[in-house]
Amino acid sequence: MSTAALLKEISDGDVFDRAAVKALFDLPREDLFARADAVRKDNMGDEVFLRGIVEFSNVCANDCLYCGIRKSNHDVRRYRIEEEEILEVAHRMEGWQQTTIVLQSGEVAADKEDERIERIIRRIKTETRLAVTMSAGNRPHDTYARWRAAGMDRYLLRFETSDPDLFAFLHPDCDLEERIGCLKDLRGLGVQVGSGFMIGVPGETSDILADNILLCRDLDLDMIGIGPFIAHPDTPLAGQANAYAGDTDMFFAAVAALRIVNPKAHIPATTAFDAIFPHAGRDLVLQRGANVFMPNATPGRFRKNYMLYPDKPCVDEDDHQCSGCAAARVWSIGRVIGQGPGHSIKVR
Ligand code: 5AD
Ligand code: FES
Repeated sequence: MSTAALLKEISDGDVFDRAAVKALFDLPREDLFARADAVRKDNMGDEVFLRGIVEFSNVCANDCLYCGIRKSNHDVRRYRIEEEEILEVAHRMEGWQQTTIVLQSGEVAADKEDERIERIIRRIKTETRLAVTMSAGNRPHDTYARWRAAGMDRYLLRFETSDPDLFAFLHPDCDLEERIGCLKDLRGLGVQVGSGFMIGVPGETSDILADNILLCRDLDLDMIGIGPFIAHPDTPLAGQANAYAGDTDMFFAAVAALRIVNPKAHIPATTAFDAIFPHAGRDLVLQRGANVFMPNATPGRFRKNYMLYPDKPCVDEDDHQCSGCAAARVWSIGRVIGQGPGHSIKVR
């Protein structure tokens, strides 16, 4: 099929199958990127929503093979940020046009931490106008329900890969079915659901990448975050090359295809892109399909202990610096900062 014919076909959204997604990867990259940017503009407009992320605890019970804060990494100093300090960050954010707070942590078994988080969500919803997104892994339905009742608006939980065997290899503590079950629980509770995957984990093929993009569509996600796999030296995957190491433009092609197949999802320009392309990666992603930026809002002194992968940017900055930097980056590419909470635009 010619480029023009393919681009026409893809304007009809749901027609995609694996072969059609793979055909997108093979388009001249400039055509693919331009198309993704146009689909973003038509569906999401020129607003870029700023959602500050607070990495409020790095305590984790899991041993995901790729992750720098896996429980077996004893070089990490474990921390939990106190309730009061999280609230202070939330209050500061409001003055910086950040209308959502994203609270991310490792995954721990249901315990007192769940109650603490419930209290923090309730306080943020009472004391500020922020939308609250949680990202704390697989949790029991009951925990999600309590957080929802406390005011949680959204949840981020990547499925990481759509291939069940690769998922099982990467996650000794969990299987893919269980992960998808959590996403369904959240949807059932009326929570806006975000998921996504890593691009180029060792063992990933272009078939799997295409299926990852299709699974995002099939799950009808409200938000989709994807970013390149980066080998962490203190993990079992140390030294392993990204599957697209020879063609890093594939990382952007993945985002562009993701946008074309998921026109109405919020798609962030994820931090891992800046690890690979310092000071430029996230800007390029915003111009190739993304419409959300998540400035790091974690208090500076904790940042070096939340290294999911090496070369994570912003480790020497604080929340105020990242906020200013994010806004400047949005303006520098001719876009505007999103007003209002930036909820899902999907109607169900
Ligand atoms: N490289 C890239 N992304 C990673 N993540 C965790 N470890 C790595 C890594 N080594 C991503 C996962 C997780 C998100 C919070 O960070 O996709 O869902
Ligand atoms: Fe942190 Fe630019 S976003 S320094």
